[in-house]
Amino acid sequence: MKVLVFKSYEELSKAAADMVAKQVKEKTNSILGLATGSSPVGMYKELVKMYKNGEVDFSKVVSYNLDEYCGLGADSDQSYRYFMQENLFNETNFKETFVPNGLAKDFNVECERYEKMMESAGYVDLQVLGIGGNAHIGFNEPADHFALNTQLVNLTKETIDANARFFASASDVPTKAITMGIGTIFKSKKIILVASGKGKQEAIFATVKGKITPNAPSSILQLHPDVTILIDEDAAGLIK
Ligand code: F6R
Repeated sequence: MKVLVFKSYEELSKAAADMVAKQVKEKTNSILGLATGSSPVGMYKELVKMYKNGEVDFSKVVSYNLDEYCGLGADSDQSYRYFMQENLFNETNFKETFVPNGLAKDFNVECERYEKMMESAGYVDLQVLGIGGNAHIGFNEPADHFALNTQLVNLTKETIDANARFFASASDVPTKAITMGIGTIFKSKKIILVASGKGKQEAIFATVKGKITPNAPSSILQLHPDVTILIDEDAAGLIK
């Protein structure tokens, strides 16, 4: 695991965007795994800028997002599909983009469909992750085991409260989500994780130096052969 510490969120976002662009230049038909949330917003801004300057081309790139809230569709401005359209897809030229269907009739069937689709595609070349304050990745919350495949999960109160900032109130935050499993994420050839701010210090400690336990889901990344953690000095506070 490589850990890169940057002076500012802008610098880490630029470095993360450079890594994504390098991947796409080296393999034009790359499969990218993408995350939502505030952490990758700066990286997406940089990628849009690079695309508009002709520095990167996504026309052969396919993407799979990590997760989606149950009950929210593409036209709901809180959905992760909507977020991705706004922050990246509407501004670039991806060949195809996939996000779990938050309006599926049967969420378990949707999880199986999503996993199978990734399996037939050969899984992800480069996966982008954020991290929750409780060390969740995707929506794999602290648990007593590591989830293998894409699955339906109950969000913890901590995650609902943390994400309430994007909704009118905490009671509007969906309580269930579909997420790639830890096993799904682990099949990615390369992983980059972006995090900033003091609120992520403990989660970053657990990821880099903590005991490997499903109670801190990101700790399993210590066992993956190609992980780069990009953080600012605040997020790095406990690992220096
Ligand atoms: C989002 C996702 C989550 C977020 C995490 C951090 O697709 O998978 O794991 O990365 O909740 O969110 P922010 O970046 O908003 O702090």
